[in-house]
Parts: sequence; structure tokens; C-alpha cells
Amino acid sequence: MNVTVRTLTGTEFPQAMAIRIQVFVDEQKVPFEEEQDHLDETAIHFGAFVDGRMVGTGRLVEQPGRGKIGRMAVLAEGRGQGVGRALLTAILAECRQRQLPQAYLSAQLHAIPFYERLGFSVTSGEYMDAGIPHKDMILELSEKA
Ligand code: COA
Repeated sequence: MNVTVRTLTGTEFPQAMAIRIQVFVDEQKVPFEEEQDHLDETAIHFGAFVDGRMVGTGRLVEQPGRGKIGRMAVLAEGRGQGVGRALLTAILAECRQRQLPQAYLSAQLHAIPFYERLGFSVTSGEYMDAGIPHKDMILELSEKA
């Protein structure tokens, strides 16, 4: 399958939000108010496209010393075909281009093996966020740049 990942323009952002709402709010029952936060204003938003249709999204927030990756979502029918991997790989490439030494994310427990495939390691115990159990994960980028 041919997946293209790129950063989104402001006019494309509502399409990414629609994917997030479908995945996090409708499917995972995260309250709509918790899905939204102020980080969207400064984040770099990415879209994954298959045959010209956006099927996945994720965002990168640049913080001191690290890139915070979040809101990784692939539409249910597009999962298990490398879309998430392509998204995360593109976001990590952006981190490296910005010379960020570390990538950080808060992973839902079921997604930990997915992030481990791309080199992330768990760095925290389990905690609840939006009613869903999570663990922190990091990837040191400076070693692999
Ligand atoms: N458990 C174990 N391995 C998994 C996995 C899972 N839940 N999801 C993906 N993987 C593995 C795949 O088998 C694949 O491994 P391989 O390259 O060795 O074959 C690799 O991770 C890449 O998988 P890919 O097909 O690119 O992942 P995806 O397109 O299905 O996207 C998510 C992964 C997590 C983004 C997607 O399942 C999703 O959107 N889930 C709902 C929203 C969500 O929970 N987001 C994460 C919030 S922290």
C-alpha cells in the first residue's frame, strides 16, 4: 500500500480533527473536551494519505529538549497496514531535522508494542489519562542521528 505522510496546512486541520474525533471520542469514548487542548495551536500536524484520502494523523509539539508526539490515530479500517509506522517515522524525521535530542510520548497500554517497534522504551509506571491507562515512553534521538 502506498502511504504518503506530510505536514498539514491550516485548512486541512479539520480533516485531522475529524479522524481524531472518530478514533478517540467515538471509538475510545474519550470526552470531547479532553480530546481538545491548547497544544493544537502550536503543534505541527501530520496527515497520512492513502490514494489521496487522509486516513491517519499525529502531532508534534516542540518542548525544551524534546519533541512531544501525540494524538496518533489511524482510522480503524486503515490499521495494520503500515500507516501508523509511516506516520511515526515521518514525525521522528521531523524531530531529527529540528535536532531534538529526545522524542517523548504518553502511550495507551495497547499501543506500547507499536511504539517499541520504532525504538521507544517505557519510562514510567501506569497512570490514567482521559480514563485510559497510559505509560510514558521515550526514544533518544541524539544517539541515532
Ligand atoms: N499491538 C502490537 N503490535 C502492533 C499494534 C498493537 N496494538 N499495532 C501495531 N502494531 C505493530 C504492527 O504489527 C507493525 O509491526 P511490524 O512492522 O513488525 O509488522 C507495527 O506495529 C506498525 O503497525 P502499523 O500497521 O503501522 O500500525 P497502525 O497503522 O495500525 O497504527 C495505531 C497503530 C496505534 C496508531 C492505531 O492502532 C490506532 O490509531 N489506534 C487507535 C488510536 C490509539 O490508540 N492511538 C495511540 C494512542 S497512544
